[in-house]
Amino acid sequence: MRRRDQKYLYGLRGTPTIEALEHALDDLEGSHGTILVPSGLAAISFPLLAFLSSGDHCLVVDSVYGPTRLFCDTLLRRMGVETEYFDPAIGGAGLAQRMRANTRVVFLEAPGSNTFEMLHVAGMADVARRGGAVSMLDNTWATPLLFRPLDHGVDLSIHALTKYPGGHSDVMMGSVSANRETFARLRDAQMQIGVNVSPDDTYLVLRGLKTMAVRLKAHEAAALELASWLETRPEVARVLHPALPSFPGHDLWKSQFKGASGLFSIVLAGGGEREASAFLDALRIFGLGYSWGGFESLALEAHLGDRVVAKAPTEGPVIRLQIGLEDVADLRRDIEGGLAALG
Ligand SMILES: Cc1ncc(COP(=O)(O)O)c(C=O)c1O
Repeated sequence: MRRRDQKYLYGLRGTPTIEALEHALDDLEGSHGTILVPSGLAAISFPLLAFLSSGDHCLVVDSVYGPTRLFCDTLLRRMGVETEYFDPAIGGAGLAQRMRANTRVVFLEAPGSNTFEMLHVAGMADVARRGGAVSMLDNTWATPLLFRPLDHGVDLSIHALTKYPGGHSDVMMGSVSANRETFARLRDAQMQIGVNVSPDDTYLVLRGLKTMAVRLKAHEAAALELASWLETRPEVARVLHPALPSFPGHDLWKSQFKGASGLFSIVLAGGGEREASAFLDALRIFGLGYSWGGFESLALEAHLGDRVVAKAPTEGPVIRLQIGLEDVADLRRDIEGGLAALG
């Protein structure tokens, strides 16, 4: 008998395990539907491909994750899409001035990568909607436990599940959670491109989700303790952490987010490449690494030379710290060693 209504007809369309994670993320995000892709970066490139065509204009916040910028400046440009970067501080009114008749996507990330600039998300999503553009937000830093973009009018919420949802640095995956108006086009693009994820990887993320809330609380508390202490250190010019009252975007963070995760940056008081390397080389517990959201602490120097308007801090090098689940006193001693190495 031919059964065209059979549910699991073809692997690309999903499996029960994939569906379980899609539904779990829909519950967390308040979304109509979710797609899973093999990395956080693919969760950025897929929706951009789904909603942009040759001749379109795309507005992207300048504090965006570096590889998002690279995708826009290379593949999207080749497709005939023009990307314009805007200052995260411009607010809804500033964004409205940059909207054009052919603006089809407004891409947000809050807080910004490496420097943690905050945005007035609802105001910006509203401007995008009125201008006929789809709004997307990279929500990886907050996870849906601390911020739900769709509640603020954003169309698509993007995650690198590689980070806190996976939580154990052993899986790469991304998700895009969409509202009712945008989901069908997103799913169509996924099927047209032909990419889904493996059930084994999906299982790892499903398992990670079960402990994400308690892990996040531990990351938040340890990061905040270290960030507050680092503010008192003379070797540190500034601490870039949205939950610190001294941070310029603090009020925006407080009015929109339910908490903070464990990723923040420090700006060293002077120095350059050599001092950044001395600090990083002296660390014993912190590893050197680009990813974050796992159990182990990581540090790196952020290179922000590609920014167009939201320029890098000028006081000294920017060091990004991912605070893991180790003992906080041990981490503090490790950072003290790094600061001592600055000479
Ligand atoms: C904010 C943000 N979005 C997306 C990604 C990409 O995630 P993945 O490493 O899974 O491609 C990262 C990775 O560092 C990130 O920091």
